[in-house]
Amino acid sequence: MGPNFLIIAILVAFVFANEESFRSLKGAQEISITCETEKQLDFVLRFEDNNHFDFLKVSHVPPENVQVLVTENQLLNFKMQLDQNGIKYKVLVDDFQKVIDEESKAQRRALMLANRSHQGDENDTYDFDHFPRHNAINDYMEQMTKKYEDVTLFSIGYSYDGRSINGVKISSGGNKTKPAILIDGGIHAREWISPVTALHTISELVNEKNKELYKNVDWYIIPVLNPDGYEFTHGKDRLWRKNRSKIGHRQCRGVDLNRNFGYKWKLSGRSRHPCHITYAGKAPFSELESQHLRDFFLSKNGTIKIYLTLHSFGKYLLYPWGYTPAEVPENEDVLLKLGVIAAVKLKALYGTEYKIGSAARILYPAAGGSDDWAKAIGKADIAFTIELPGTSFVIDPSLIKPIGLETFEAFRVFGVYAEIVYKDL
Ligand code: ARG
Ligand code: ZN
Repeated sequence: MGPNFLIIAILVAFVFANEESFRSLKGAQEISITCETEKQLDFVLRFEDNNHFDFLKVSHVPPENVQVLVTENQLLNFKMQLDQNGIKYKVLVDDFQKVIDEESKAQRRALMLANRSHQGDENDTYDFDHFPRHNAINDYMEQMTKKYEDVTLFSIGYSYDGRSINGVKISSGGNKTKPAILIDGGIHAREWISPVTALHTISELVNEKNKELYKNVDWYIIPVLNPDGYEFTHGKDRLWRKNRSKIGHRQCRGVDLNRNFGYKWKLSGRSRHPCHITYAGKAPFSELESQHLRDFFLSKNGTIKIYLTLHSFGKYLLYPWGYTPAEVPENEDVLLKLGVIAAVKLKALYGTEYKIGSAARILYPAAGGSDDWAKAIGKADIAFTIELPGTSFVIDPSLIKPIGLETFEAFRVFGVYAEIVYKDL
């Protein structure tokens, strides 16, 4: 082996060490655990700081399960410990990489079909049959602005890696100051159903039969708040949750944007460790993406009365506070009633049932969420985190349309409410 070869080998190794490699989940299992006591839950949650465990779903309210993904090499030991502590579990997914591979195959198939059937027709290239990439989402919004005069495109700023975080405003225009509803998606990268549901909302709002909804109310829709993370989940690490900023740690990147908002920051449900999936960041609003949402919100001078943020999964309509179960907002009765009506309308379409309550009480306490900030500082009267349906972050693309449609029935309720209640701004 000549010295030249060695130099090249070292160079290649260097380049690849910097480029983050694909994370395989071969042999990793998704396990559903039923904790019957607080003690059992505490025991299971002790694994939260372990890199081999990814807690996909945790509910502190019984009898909800914990869903956790465990890498292959930890499985035996973990199951043994559960057995020893008398904790019941079952394996939901036997090899998570297979699930991811299936999903990418379906994605590729849908893309090919879409390309074939839409050749040459520029105006209508996406049909909600697969999960669109960030570029395609921005293209779609641009097309909508060209097609409908009531739709305008805006950018709230750039992500850490320099992607434009775009949104659309849907408005009937005029000089009157109108109340507004802000819907965002994709704060968490892996929750693929979220951006596409936000995008679907745009297509519904511009539908002739829904025009009334934006006659006296402006709608702002930002489908992907965390484009770097979202793109990273397409091909690199399907279960990435945070953004992609470098945070001064040798190996780990990313801040959980939904722990980074500056209200009661770090009070609960976050991690101090940069490698952890709920790392809250160095300071409140340390991240560009959360800063941009804050600044956009504040630039609307208190007109955003309703804030709805799309996450997945679990079918919850969560209102503040997320930071503590000890308190609820002063208008909890309104939040609850509105949530119930929205859920009833949503259910009427396909029978999907949502649970409604304060985030900290019916899910778990976690501070630094965009919902708490929007309510407390952004002065939104109504704020909801909507945990869309699904049993995983990986979700069958045939569900995009039905979820889009049923969720829109809930949005309709918020639209009508805004029109009636905030008309004298
Ligand atoms: N699944 C969401 C999260 O963990 C729920 C957020 C609810 N809101 C809150 N402020 N905790 O971020
Ligand atoms: Zn989320």
